[in-house]
This record gives sequence, structure tokens and C-alpha cells, in this order.
Amino acid sequence: MTSPAHIAIIMDGNGRWAKSRGLPRVAGHRAGVEALRDVVRAAPGLGISFLTVYAFSSENWSRPKSEVSDLMGLLKLFIRRDLAELHGQGVRVRVIGDRESLQPDIRSLLEEAETLTRHNTGLTLVIAFNYGGRDEIVRAVRKLSEAVLQGKIQPHDIAVHDFAAALDTSGIPDPDLVIRTSGEQRLSNFLLWQAAYSELVFVPCYWPDFSSAHLVEALRDFAGRERRFGGLSSQEAVSSALAR
Ligand code: FPP
Repeated sequence: MTSPAHIAIIMDGNGRWAKSRGLPRVAGHRAGVEALRDVVRAAPGLGISFLTVYAFSSENWSRPKSEVSDLMGLLKLFIRRDLAELHGQGVRVRVIGDRESLQPDIRSLLEEAETLTRHNTGLTLVIAFNYGGRDEIVRAVRKLSEAVLQGKIQPHDIAVHDFAAALDTSGIPDPDLVIRTSGEQRLSNFLLWQAAYSELVFVPCYWPDFSSAHLVEALRDFAGRERRFGGLSSQEAVSSALAR
């Protein structure tokens, strides 16, 4: 089975998982961190080189203050507790999203994780934090506009690869597969540019219940898909060439 090099996950359903057990929402997020740990440990063995996870969206600020603060706390705890293990496993951490509006302590923790692991050559774990696809695109437009104003590039010379290089994901290949848990079937502002040709797999279970077995199942589903990137299927391409 050929594994996708890059998997991106929308870890959805923490709140519903907690509610179904009569627990506070934060218990769902805590259990979600456990599920994330398991998936990060399993990914390299499944041939995955890049794993992107949607940990906090730019829209999540509209949640109650206490939940926002719980999520910030969990990120801090995750980095403080798990960074040494991740580093030991050769994981390289990258963070995408708008850092400007994050608290200085969170910003410096994220930077510390990136700096410590920058030369690692194992799995690249991309944490989308304060991330929104539209916001990322707007920030990329600003960067390119600055470059135009400084005379570094002419507007008509801006190509697809220049735009991709101005995004937070510069240097990271597009996701081959996007997985969303909890049964919801939408992208919710996640990797809007990068997911242009991604295969989408929707898993009914809530994120805290997601395990490496679900991941293997999603990989099987992916292996059965034929990716055409706007072209023809290999069968159709052969028939069309023969008909000419
Ligand atoms: C969606 O569930 C999940 C989130 C908004 C946050 C995901 C965060 C984690 C798994 C833990 C934190 C991550 C790190 C890296 C520390 P929801 O709350 O929208 O669930 P619901 O739709 O059932 O309410």
C-alpha cells in the first residue's frame, strides 16, 4: 500500500465526546491531546513524512474565554511535556498560523519547538495554531504586495509557486489526504490553497476515539482512490492516446 506523504487532520468532536460522557469540554480536549500523541507516534511507521493538525483556528477565539484559555494551556503543556520526546524521535516541528496576536509566552514556546527540532529529519509535525486558510492567503497577498512595492517582483511575474512560497506552508508539500473526524464533512477554512487536490476522508468517530487503527483504515481508503489532478485517469489516457 502506498502511503500518502502528507496527511492533514481536522481533529473534530472533542466537545461532543466530552458531552456524551457528561464531562466538561476541556476533558474532551485533554483526551484529544492523547489521541494526537498516539497518531504522532504511529505516523512514521506508516510511511507518513508530514502530519499537519488543526489545533486552534482563527475562528476559535469566538469560543467562551475559559475554553480559549484551556486550549492555550493544553498547547503549552503539550510543548513543555512532549517536546523532548518529539525531539528524541527525530520529529521536526513547524507551526503555521498568525503568531502576531498570540501571547508572548506561547509565541516563544512555539519558536523554541521549531528551533530545537529544525535539523531533525524524521516526521515533520505541522501544528496549525491560530490558523485560518483565508487569513493565511491574505497575509501572503500582503507579503507579495510588499515585494511588488519594493520592486522585487512585477505583478505579471507572480506565478503559482511564488504564491505558494508566500504561504505559511512554504517548503511543505501539499497534503495528499485530509482526514476529518466526527462525521462533519467540510474543510472549515483549513489549508484552502493547499488542499486543492487532496483526497478527503471523513471518519464518523470523535477525535478522542481516533486511533492508529482508524488511521490505517483511512490510508486504505486513500490507496483505493485514483488521483487525477485535473487530468485523465491512466486508463482513459491510454485509450485516448490509442484513439489518436
Ligand atoms: C474540535 O473539537 C477541536 C478543537 C477546536 C481543538 C483541537 C485541539 C486538540 C485536539 C487539543 C489541543 C492540541 C494541541 C496541539 C495541544 P470541538 O471542540 O469543535 O468539538 P465539538 O464540535 O464536538 O464541539
